[in-house]
Amino acid sequence: MSETTTYDAVPYESFPFAQSHPARMSGMAKLFGLPATNLATARVLELGCSFGGNLLPMAVQCPGAQFTGVDLSQVQIDYANKIKSELGVTNITFRQANILDLAKETAQYDYIITHGVYSWIPPEVQSAMLDLYGKQLAPNGVGYISYNVYPGWKMREVVREMMLFHVGHLKDHTTKLAQARAILQYAGKLHANNQAAFGRLMAEEANLLMRCSDSYIYHEHLEANNRPCYFHEFVGATAKHGLSYLGESSLSDMLPDRHGADLANTARQISDGNIIACEQYVDLLTNRAFRQTLLIRADRAASVQRALSPASFRDLHVSVQLKPATVEPQLQTTKTPQPVAHAVYSDVHGRQINANQPHAKVMIDTLVAASPYSIPFTQAVQAVAAYAQSAGLQLDAATYVSSELAVLLGQGVATLFGEAQSRPAADAARIAPYARWHAARGNVVTNALHGLVQLTPEQAQAVKSGTPASAAQQAELMTLGLMV
Ligand SMILES: C[S@@+](CC[C@H](N)C(=O)[O-])C[C@H]1O[C@@H](n2cnc3c(N)ncnc32)[C@H](O)[C@@H]1O
Repeated sequence: MSETTTYDAVPYESFPFAQSHPARMSGMAKLFGLPATNLATARVLELGCSFGGNLLPMAVQCPGAQFTGVDLSQVQIDYANKIKSELGVTNITFRQANILDLAKETAQYDYIITHGVYSWIPPEVQSAMLDLYGKQLAPNGVGYISYNVYPGWKMREVVREMMLFHVGHLKDHTTKLAQARAILQYAGKLHANNQAAFGRLMAEEANLLMRCSDSYIYHEHLEANNRPCYFHEFVGATAKHGLSYLGESSLSDMLPDRHGADLANTARQISDGNIIACEQYVDLLTNRAFRQTLLIRADRAASVQRALSPASFRDLHVSVQLKPATVEPQLQTTKTPQPVAHAVYSDVHGRQINANQPHAKVMIDTLVAASPYSIPFTQAVQAVAAYAQSAGLQLDAATYVSSELAVLLGQGVATLFGEAQSRPAADAARIAPYARWHAARGNVVTNALHGLVQLTPEQAQAVKSGTPASAAQQAELMTLGLMV
């Protein structure tokens, strides 16, 4: 009989985390010159899987891979197994177990995922988790761990500790949550017009948390354990278990340039080419609070090639999160004319991305035509090479595409995959089976790219029924990544 946990009493909502998808982990490994296992045969383990919201869509999408989800909470594992049988998937196993005990096993996995767990467990379980990664990651394996970091969490701890002090003597979960919300509300109101640094911090954090779900407030802030650490401490702890830092799960999260050239140049200069030091300086100077780190076995560290070249991208697949946009021409002075954008695109936040040369437009249009699905890097190169030839342009297409792609990746509007996430042919496309199951339970569903999408009532009806109402609706669902 398993022990009862707080997750039995207040179950965690379980979602897909696109950044933890093995095809994205393999994309980062290949980008840095390392081989990685294809999902056709991969073994994937998730620790602290809750009721499978992250792992189940992957299992449906990749029938050849074997998935194992482990969680301490029997209630959550029972629910995961219920969903598993509703979906009829056979390539996934859910187990109630403690990470402490699993570390003694000898299984091998190509991908190990732990999202939202490491910071919330006692030090001996953290150590057992890293031990498991060190021993059970296959030779070409890639591990993902997300965790809270300082200095960003220093400020959040002030709010957490206020809530903990206020509810510490309470036993009942519902009263605890109600009182945590009550003190947040009071702090938010008290500091609503306080312009001093502490007042602004308190009001901002309190108002942000007030909008979060009960399960988030409970497990993020009211659990006995929430142990942020500095990035360099995390890397130091992983090294003791035979692990090495590969990078972050999204390239854009590890490019100092995203904070401007000044910080990027300074961080690179003062860290003397040491990537751990560089990342740590950036965290310290930008108040970072969260990381999603990829780990490899330490014996592969010497093979990591961090200098990116066209060869780094050769075997990769790429998608963009962009759509064409129109902007009104702006009046300019005659003295300082700005470059004319050949095409303008917008990202999911409405941010404008320009293609300033015709061959940039060809590259982005080729990617946008497949979006949100991926195309091979080589297809983008071929499109640009064909344009260059027709326009009589002297251009090394592979060099050009890789450097432009690095810019789009840095801007966070492109994603790399180690294997194809292809757009299906319109006449053979069907609604993604996991999305169909999901739509029967709500209007926010998991798409084929492992992201969450909000559906209109009409779209939800079509996804649930398994048949788009028209060709136009099928095209709409394709754009949302809901067709496979
Ligand atoms: C904050 S939740 C995160 C759930 C999920 N990974 C997510 O991010 O949505 C932490 C999960 O870790 C599980 N957990 C905590 N301690 C554990 C342990 N020692 N062994 C296995 N699972 C554990 C909890 O039951 C819970 O489901």
